[in-house]
Amino acid sequence: MNLPRGQKPFVVGLAGLGTVGGGLVRLLEENAELTRLRAGRDIVVKRILVRDAAKAREVSPPADAELTTDAAALTDDPEIDALAELIGGIDQARALIDRALDKGKHVVTANKALLAEDGLALFKKAENNNLVLRCEAAVAGAIPIVQTMKESLTGNRVTSLLGILNGTSNYILSEMTTGNLDFDTALKQAQELGYAEADPSLDIDGHDAAHKLILLIRLAHGVDYPYATLPVSGIRGISVMDIRLAEEFGYHIKLIGRVREVADTRGGMSLEAGVFPALVHNRYLLARVNGVYNAIRVEANAAGSLFFHGRGAGALPTAGAALSDLVAAARGAPADNTGFARPDLPQAAVLPWEDGRSSFYVRLTVRDRPGVLRDLAGAMAAEEISVAQMIQKSGEGGIVPLVFMTHETTTRAMNKSLERMRDAGLLTEPAVCHRVL
Ligand SMILES: NC(=O)c1ccc[n+]([C@@H]2O[C@H](COP(=O)([O-])OP(=O)(O)OC[C@H]3O[C@@H](n4cnc5c(N)ncnc54)[C@H](OP(=O)(O)O)[C@@H]3O)[C@@H](O)[C@H]2O)c1
Repeated sequence: MNLPRGQKPFVVGLAGLGTVGGGLVRLLEENAELTRLRAGRDIVVKRILVRDAAKAREVSPPADAELTTDAAALTDDPEIDALAELIGGIDQARALIDRALDKGKHVVTANKALLAEDGLALFKKAENNNLVLRCEAAVAGAIPIVQTMKESLTGNRVTSLLGILNGTSNYILSEMTTGNLDFDTALKQAQELGYAEADPSLDIDGHDAAHKLILLIRLAHGVDYPYATLPVSGIRGISVMDIRLAEEFGYHIKLIGRVREVADTRGGMSLEAGVFPALVHNRYLLARVNGVYNAIRVEANAAGSLFFHGRGAGALPTAGAALSDLVAAARGAPADNTGFARPDLPQAAVLPWEDGRSSFYVRLTVRDRPGVLRDLAGAMAAEEISVAQMIQKSGEGGIVPLVFMTHETTTRAMNKSLERMRDAGLLTEPAVCHRVL
């Protein structure tokens, strides 16, 4: 292939030489020739920002790159064309990206937390300055979902998007399912294998999946769904008992991020979105996504159903996504950063979580006495909830677990009915209740 002679290399200031930054350095070397052919020029790292320049590292910086602890050495160097922000966190990453955009540099980032919680101003600045701000690595690692939503699916209306967006939680649930481990043991195992952080709350409480979902909502619908208002619950409360009982009905429990269009009472469309543990029927591919893998199912009005599956994290899978963004910037890709032409994203019309409709899995622990089933059924009937299936397990000391699968109802009705049971003193333990997909 003939490349234009004397084409100036595309110069990158790399912020972060940890898991993803190190992966990017490796990949730039491993795929150097192919990258040059695709981008039309070399992509080189000039400087690398780290916290501690003296630290021993698994990945050595490229021969010509220097380590620095001075952010301005990246953002203010006129020779640097693009910033690859791979330090994570919010405040310093925001300041770094903001400054880079002010200085006319393209930006590639894997920072879903920053973009979801506070990204709109950065996207606006990039748009105004006609600069690329890309984040393929921020959502589901290697799965090429960002560009797919931004480009390949622009002929479609996305009616629903749901997925397994956090590999750590999925690993823990998979181990609980196949290895019969309790939650704490599965979490400890994930930490020992490097799949979970010492402080795992971002992953297991659903916030990491929520960050990705916010970005996907923007890409799918071109609206701003404020992060702080997204309903989020994680997997801390999931027990092996519920996993086994769900299996008896033919389901696996998964941590799901979902957004879907729902007709609202004003005759328009609202978005029902949230991150929550759900029972997924075995007949769905999603139920069979195990370990640290991620998967996303998109329903679109022209395409129908699409399914994406792959590694949601890790050095090379994530770095490959970041590199694809750098290649695009090096080629001079237009600053089409959100997939929508308007510079400001309007606020999403949000369906209140309580109005969302679903079937439910409900596990109740009750005292075994004549008439208890009638009383429970009465509490559900009072909220017009009908039961599709029920299992009664043998208990101990006169206390028995009862499991119901309901027909579709609202979350509000389900909660009210559980409140009725509590108020009537029917439950000896708090009820366990999950949505069923
Ligand atoms: N790990 C994954 O699989 C994955 C997947 C998808 C997205 N991401 C995202 O990618 C980003 C990076 O994650 P990571 O796992 O690669 O993190 P990491 O392994 O902890 O590495 C972070 C790197 O950034 C440097 N750094 C951190 N804070 C800094 C600061 N204030 N100033 C200068 N340098 C700083 C660190 O320097 P030192 O080396 O000197 O400590 C380190 O090299 C995050 O936004 C994360 O959410 C990660």
